[in-house]
Amino acid sequence: MSSNLPSYLTISTEINSDLSKAIETLNPDKIVVLVDENTKKYCFPHLHVSVDAQIEIQSGEQYKTLETCIKIWTQLTAIGCSRKSLLINLGGGVIGDMGGFAASTYKRGMPFINIPTTLLSQVDASIGGKLGVDFEGLKNHIGVFQNPVCVIINTAFLKTLPERELKSGFAEIIKHALIRDAEQWEYLNRHSFEKINWNEIIPKSISIKSKVVQEDPFEADARKILNYGHTIGHALESHFLNSDTPLLHGEAIALGMILENEIAATVGLLSQGESAEINEFIRSVYNLNLQLPNYEMLRSHLLQDKKNDAQGIRFSLLKKIGACAHDVLVEETVLKNILK
Ligand SMILES: NC(=O)c1ccc[n+]([C@@H]2O[C@H](COP(=O)([O-])OP(=O)(O)OC[C@H]3O[C@@H](n4cnc5c(N)ncnc54)[C@H](O)[C@@H]3O)[C@@H](O)[C@H]2O)c1
Repeated sequence: MSSNLPSYLTISTEINSDLSKAIETLNPDKIVVLVDENTKKYCFPHLHVSVDAQIEIQSGEQYKTLETCIKIWTQLTAIGCSRKSLLINLGGGVIGDMGGFAASTYKRGMPFINIPTTLLSQVDASIGGKLGVDFEGLKNHIGVFQNPVCVIINTAFLKTLPERELKSGFAEIIKHALIRDAEQWEYLNRHSFEKINWNEIIPKSISIKSKVVQEDPFEADARKILNYGHTIGHALESHFLNSDTPLLHGEAIALGMILENEIAATVGLLSQGESAEINEFIRSVYNLNLQLPNYEMLRSHLLQDKKNDAQGIRFSLLKKIGACAHDVLVEETVLKNILK
């Protein structure tokens, strides 16, 4: 395990022995597993530890809400969970963010372990302690910072993941490379998506995020670079959330990165050449043929971004491949022009 990785994270080849060890140390009075219909079918059979109960929720971003949390809290109560019980969140970023939030607030906090089962949750959502739910259509509007007891990552879960979901996670791998690691970008740019070796790339991508989080755990400063692509990405994700064509998180971030590169190039932060190089690569991976909303349509979502202040909408924008600026104030006229 690389020394860059947080102490609570294990890249595991033996999921059951690693999970058993963690359970032995905790010695919980009850063990509950949170799943959705897909992780119940594809991932739960991989776990050979005995559990007291399973809580099943519906999969999908549209269920990452307080209403679903109420269902989880109600079931934890009915099962008789105490502050000494353990919740195992088995699933993607939705289960990890929401299950972690539900556990952190149940009786003021019960321990939880995250077993991320999507590429996106393995390289991104399970690291850094951000937990929460969407609220009134706003992404991750209600939440807390809290680390799980441990995160156990096993790439074997990815075998059943649909390609569209795999590509969604790949967007965060691209992001990590672009904000901090030009060498990793070179590797990605040389290989086609189909030829990426996940066992090689996942630990590297995790270590980039972990390093940034360690520098600034509560996002006062440098951690904001992890939001590159996310100001517009989250606004697009929220805009399409309840439409007939919802975007996956990573797809929204891929689009966000393209548009934010155009902004960075317009304001003279990023060279036109690098912006074009990155955007060509992203377009080659994703099928992004959709009718984009204009600035007016996205404005209310953009104004809710957690990085904003009284002066306006603040972006994390690339300065060059491998380096990212944060808190960049962008004029509305520039945004209107890019988001036509
Ligand atoms: N906390 C953070 O720092 C952070 C960072 C990035 C993203 N996120 C959040 O993560 C969420 C997106 O996560 P996601 O992309 O994992 O989506 P997701 O949790 O919705 O999972 C995607 C789909 O894959 C299914 N699935 C999960 N594992 C599977 C497997 N092994 N085989 C087959 N199907 C499987 C799920 O049931 C779901 O249908 C968003 O809500 C986003 O806001 C959080």
